[in-house]
Amino acid sequence: MHMDGTDPRLRFTRIPPARRIGSLLDDVRHGLLQPPRRLPAKYFYDERGAQLFEDICATEDYYPSRCEAQLLADHGQALMQAMDARHLVELGSGSSRKTRHLLQFAQPGTVYWPFDVSEHMLRESAAGLVAQWPELQVHGLVGDYHAGLDLPIPDAGRRSVLFLGGTLGNFRPDQAETFLREIRGLLRAGDTLLLGADRVKSTAVLERAYDDRDGVTAAFNLNVLRVLNRELDADFDLAGFRHRAVYNTEAQRIEMYLEAIQDQAVWIGRLDQRLHLSRGERIRTELSHKYSEASLLRLLEPAGFRIEQLLTTPAPTAYSLVLARASD
Ligand code: AVJ
Repeated sequence: MHMDGTDPRLRFTRIPPARRIGSLLDDVRHGLLQPPRRLPAKYFYDERGAQLFEDICATEDYYPSRCEAQLLADHGQALMQAMDARHLVELGSGSSRKTRHLLQFAQPGTVYWPFDVSEHMLRESAAGLVAQWPELQVHGLVGDYHAGLDLPIPDAGRRSVLFLGGTLGNFRPDQAETFLREIRGLLRAGDTLLLGADRVKSTAVLERAYDDRDGVTAAFNLNVLRVLNRELDADFDLAGFRHRAVYNTEAQRIEMYLEAIQDQAVWIGRLDQRLHLSRGERIRTELSHKYSEASLLRLLEPAGFRIEQLLTTPAPTAYSLVLARASD
C-alpha cells in the first residue's frame, strides 16, 4: 500500500471545459428572471443535493435506481463480456456503487475512468475500488461533462462508455442526440455505450416516483434554492415553495417545479435585483424524459449506434439498460 498518494493504480486528472458553458449566474439571468422560469437540473447536486439524491434512491417509491442495480447484478458478467473493454469511461460516476456489478468482472489491466464533478466523491470511491480489486486501475476525471468530452484516454484498446441512472433523460431530445453524438466521438466502430434509460409508463407510478411519500424528492427539489442562496447571495425562503412533479404524457417526461405558495419578492444579491413571484407561479427545475423502444432507436441510430441489447425490468416499474454498439 502506498501511503503517500502515489499508488500507481490511482490517478486523477482535472478536465478543463472544452467549450464555454453558461455559469449559474448566466442561467439565472436568462432562465429565472422572466417566465417561463426554469433552471438546469445540474444545480441540484451540491454536497447536500448529492446526498439527497442518494436518499431518493433508497426510497420505496423511486424505482429507477433499484431496477438498474438489479439489471446490472443480473447481467453484469454478460455485459462485460459483450463490451470487452480495456477502458471503461463512466459519465457522472458519483459513488460508482452500481458500477461495482460490472467492475467485479473486469479483466486484469482494465482501466476505469470515472468522470464526475465531485473530486471528493471520486477520490473516496476510487480508493475503495483499488483496495477491493488490486488489478484494477482507476483514473478519475474531475470535471463537468456538459462542457465537453475531450478526455485523455490512450489510443490502444477497446472502449466502453457508461452513462447510467437515466441521466440522459435530463436532456431535451435534440440535446440528447447531440450529447450521444459527442459520446460517439469518444468511440471507434465496435466500441460500446451502456445507457440507463427510464421507460414510459403509467402516470401514477411516475408521479409517485418523483413525489415520494417520504418527502425526500421534495427536499431535493427545494435544496436548489439553498444553492442559489449560497452561490448568488439570494434570500429564497424555502417555506414559501412547494414541490410539484407532473408527468407530461405528450412530451413523455416528468417535469419538476417549485411553486410559490404566496406572492413574494426574492433578493438576488449577485444580480443586484429583486425577483417577484406571484402565488401559484412555478419555476421548472427538472425534465426527466421517459423512453420507448422507438424513441431510444430514434435517438441512438442517428447518433451512430446500433442497439445490441435492450434489458428491461418488468412492469409496472420498467427501466432499461441499453447496450449500444458504435456503427461504422
Ligand atoms: C439523476 C437525472 C436520473 O431524473 O430520475 C430523481 C434525478 N430527480 N428524482 C431522474 C431525480 C428527482 C434523476 N436523474
